[in-house]
Amino acid sequence: GTTGNGSGGTASGNASGGSNNQQSISIGSDIPYKPFEYRTNEDELVGFDVDIAKAVFGEQLGMTPQFQATSFDSIIPSLNNNNFRVIMSAMTINDDRAEKVDFSDPYFTAYQTIITLQNSDISGKADLKGQTVGVQKGTTGADAAAGLKEEFDGDLSIESYDQIPDAFSALMNNQVAAVINDNTVNAGFVNENSDAVRFVEGDGEAANQGKNAPSYLTLTVEEYGIAFRQNDDDLRKRVNEALSTIRDDGTYDEIYNEYFDG
Ligand code: ARG
Repeated sequence: GTTGNGSGGTASGNASGGSNNQQSISIGSDIPYKPFEYRTNEDELVGFDVDIAKAVFGEQLGMTPQFQATSFDSIIPSLNNNNFRVIMSAMTINDDRAEKVDFSDPYFTAYQTIITLQNSDISGKADLKGQTVGVQKGTTGADAAAGLKEEFDGDLSIESYDQIPDAFSALMNNQVAAVINDNTVNAGFVNENSDAVRFVEGDGEAANQGKNAPSYLTLTVEEYGIAFRQNDDDLRKRVNEALSTIRDDGTYDEIYNEYFDG
């Protein structure tokens, strides 16, 4: 059945916490996508999105967030089939998606970036011509790769993977020459494997994010939003208010610093 209560009449405004009959809210997400949603070795679900969900849905709206793992490529149809109430999956707001879902106000800025093996010859995006790049299926990284392919008059092969760790493995195993993916997620992988992989820095705008972040070439500038079904305006408005509250009261910064400036 559907996951929303749909009946209205629940108390609005801030929950004081500790209520034991809170309404739960199911959140569709493709896991793992570290540092946004992933499991620790102890199998605990953590991440930036998970903490924002706790702050917004839990503390502000008095609901119990329940993450539900789902494939990213089918996450929008899945939302519209009522498999969960909202999407929180480091999802970029764009026009294509906005035809099928409604987005919250933006809650995070991201860039598409390229990583490659330390010992590869790729120093700028032009060097990708004639190469194979790996992406996660259905993502804006896949869109960016398609854009590059056009720029190269078709002279680029694109391998799509169901989940980003599969694309990272393909890079490590020399099955692809590069991976195009969101900056902070790539940065996590580069930091953990700095003797093997690096960012591509050349041929365009460079940027970085977070105190210890390396600099990298950026192919796009994007913003993440929470996605809702198109008839869920009431919840969407309450979420926007909650997002604004946690920005004002310092909760957002606390969570941000935990994942990106530690
Ligand atoms: N930001 C990119 C997009 O919206 C990638 C998101 C992938 N998220 C995930 N949890 N796997 O397409």
